[in-house]
Amino acid sequence: KETFLKEYTPPAYLVDRLDLRVELDPQATRVRATLRCRPNTNTPVKQPLVLNGEQLELVRVALDGVELSATEFHFGDGLLTIAQVPDGPFMVETETRINPAGNTALEGLYLSSGNYCTQCEAEGFRTITCFPDRPDVMTVFTTTIVGDTASCPVLLSNGNLIDSGDLGDGRHYATWHDPFPKPCYLFALVAGDLVRISDTFTTRSGRQIDLHIYVEERNRNKCDHAMRALQKAMRWDELRFGREYDLDTYMIVAVDDFNMGAMENKGLNVFNSKYVLALPETATDTDYEGIEGVIAHEYFHNWTGNRITCRDWFQLSLKEGLTVFRDQEFTADMISRPVKRIQDANIIRSFQFREDSGPMAHPVRPPSFVEINNFYTLTVYNKGAEVIRMLHTLLGPETFRRGMDLYFERHDGQAVTCDDFVAAMADAWGKDLTQFKRWYSQAGTPELTVRADYDPAARQLILTVEQTCPPTRESAEKLPFFMPLAVGLLDAQGRAMPLENAPDATTRVLILSEAKQRFEFTNIASTPTISFLRNFSAPVKVRLDQSDEELGVLMAHDPDPFNRWDAGQKLGLHHLLAQIERHQQGQPVQVDDRLLHGLRNLLLDRDSDPAFLAMAMALPSENWIGQQMEVVDPVAIFAVRQQFRALIGQALRSELLQGYETLRIPGPYRYSALDAGKRALRNGCLAYLLAPPLDGVLDPCLLHKGVHQYRHADNMTDAIAALSCVVNADLATGTELLADFHAQWQHDPLVVDKWLILQAGCTLPGTLDRVKALTTHPSFTYKNPNKVRSLIATFCATNHGQFHAADGSGYDFLGDQVCLLDPLNPQIAARMLTPLTQWRRYDAGRQQLMRAQLERIGSQRSLSDDVKEVVERSLH
Ligand code: ARG
Ligand code: ZN
Repeated sequence: KETFLKEYTPPAYLVDRLDLRVELDPQATRVRATLRCRPNTNTPVKQPLVLNGEQLELVRVALDGVELSATEFHFGDGLLTIAQVPDGPFMVETETRINPAGNTALEGLYLSSGNYCTQCEAEGFRTITCFPDRPDVMTVFTTTIVGDTASCPVLLSNGNLIDSGDLGDGRHYATWHDPFPKPCYLFALVAGDLVRISDTFTTRSGRQIDLHIYVEERNRNKCDHAMRALQKAMRWDELRFGREYDLDTYMIVAVDDFNMGAMENKGLNVFNSKYVLALPETATDTDYEGIEGVIAHEYFHNWTGNRITCRDWFQLSLKEGLTVFRDQEFTADMISRPVKRIQDANIIRSFQFREDSGPMAHPVRPPSFVEINNFYTLTVYNKGAEVIRMLHTLLGPETFRRGMDLYFERHDGQAVTCDDFVAAMADAWGKDLTQFKRWYSQAGTPELTVRADYDPAARQLILTVEQTCPPTRESAEKLPFFMPLAVGLLDAQGRAMPLENAPDATTRVLILSEAKQRFEFTNIASTPTISFLRNFSAPVKVRLDQSDEELGVLMAHDPDPFNRWDAGQKLGLHHLLAQIERHQQGQPVQVDDRLLHGLRNLLLDRDSDPAFLAMAMALPSENWIGQQMEVVDPVAIFAVRQQFRALIGQALRSELLQGYETLRIPGPYRYSALDAGKRALRNGCLAYLLAPPLDGVLDPCLLHKGVHQYRHADNMTDAIAALSCVVNADLATGTELLADFHAQWQHDPLVVDKWLILQAGCTLPGTLDRVKALTTHPSFTYKNPNKVRSLIATFCATNHGQFHAADGSGYDFLGDQVCLLDPLNPQIAARMLTPLTQWRRYDAGRQQLMRAQLERIGSQRSLSDDVKEVVERSLH
């Protein structure tokens, strides 16, 4: 059954207080709930009380202290209905029984490595107890947890600990009270044998907050970075957005089995251990950066998500788009603003654009869904953040901040909509944003066609911009979007040309609102090179013909780092696409001198940020190349890109070797943005040097460099970078090193994930057979989402050359895996399906093979709603 935004009605009953008593037991946890309800005055007609309740056994129901007989309530199809309730306030009590040990879906209350934890967003609370499981019912929670003293010394829930004690029968209890009313999706409970790492944070108003990170004993020494990240995020939110923390304690718990990255439960975040635990020997620079970003993301939710929450799940981007924007800004300040911007634009272009052009395309505010878990997407999160960023660009930082303040002032303590957010921004700006809101209702990626006409006599440039947007399921005809287009002009020597109406004199922000619009630039002394869509100022595709010469000027001189990087990507893309065509016609692949020249300049650049150079050195992703093709040929894309890498490695061998030597960092590993950038650039050099030629063998002395780096690295970043090069260059040596790696790290689940990723991503022939064998390896389990993502998703979603084997073997494998996973964990099964949803993009043969798998999955008995929705949307 599909739920629609337009059918929203306010809740008939509100719940002022919820008292929970949870008596933990692996197979039979008893939950007693007392709900203090009252009719919602907004609903005029008297209605029955309807509570959600799923996958639980209902033992008892009482109304105002009187047990109800079987005829006085109805329980079934996920609902508990009490037809007759008093007109005024009343009290409902229920007792339910649940099975955390049998919960492999990891939604609701479940066991992970013997510890209890919860994941309630979006609709998991209904599997714990009967309750109106919708975010616009906000309640004050008091939770008593009863558990085994020996196996569960730690008992946690949201808010403040108000009582605890021993029950004398080998059990103890703890009572937590959360003073802030919250929707039930923000409820959390954790119980188990965990150790606590503590520190403090003093808010700018002088309150001291206790910070606790709870982990398994063996991970005690891996929490420093996460703790530092939390403190930085708390300070940053005060400085940038004026937001202080509100409770006296902030707790983070790391668990190994988690469907997503982390969860912002009030005062008690639950994290995938991947986003908490780090030591130089076990975590890479990317992991360090990810931890800092996710810790910050969940912390920022305390204001954008918890204090102000969503009215309904269609508004998910209200909290997620905004919080992603906030975490992006935080990371930009922690590492480097341009580097972060390039990373984020890459995510949009490589993955969100693809989602937006496929069968799962949906607006930032979806109009309907079958399973909300399928809509925790790149569109809601990342495009949602781009929409916020466009507001930031349009309003400017000060006005945007006033809009944020107004939003907090108006809606603190409420469950609101995206319209409420935009209204606060419009009021701060004093301008109408009605047209801008089309970003929330129209899916698809707008495509801009730009024409430049320069008139030397009139010293005038006319830019004509036309926008179109392909049809998507919610709207065939698109109305024009409203967006900021940041533009600069360079002269033939690469100097920035002064512009009228440009706040910083060289970048002008054009506002596009029509289907076709003309923009005049006056007083332009010579033919300009156009730097269009600076800083990726809108999430759109741009068609603007520029010669290799113009791209060369931008690559060398554009003061906008994003466009400087993008010019190199465009040049690379241009040559890659040309060579893919040649390759498809059986011609050998060649690398153009202009491209080599550009790369050589990067290698000799001693001024730019190494992290920036590392990104500029990288060729466009296979995904981004595929998006430029009418019919995607994944095998050709892989082969040509791979051959490019090998030829570049050969042509620039001495410069790469020199870069590799000079970028060596003296002293022990330390995580910092600068060092991470140097390592990325250095390992980028190594990867070019070790790129195996398609038909030929790699120079053994280069291979040895990789082996040597692997053996002598004092940190995981350098070890895994070298190992990855070796694994993709030489099967025999790679296999030997992988065995060594496994022997060393088999006790550490997060490092084992890396071992699986390397094998699943191996681009040498025969990977599928090795992946299949790994599914029965003792280090792999279908019950841990990180393991499934590392092995199955890495192969199916990133190893394009092999997953898309023309015989359909990769598709067949994925079909099997989805069928196997669905009964265990529907959320993960549905996510694994993503590569198959793109079937229309390929040639007829692959289309047929991919479709056949979707049909086979669709014909399974008792399929989850999660998988069914993705399959059905893909086929129709
Ligand atoms: N709100 C969490 C975050 O953005 C994501 C949790 C989503 N979980 C889910 N099962 N859908 O950090
Ligand atoms: Zn979030």
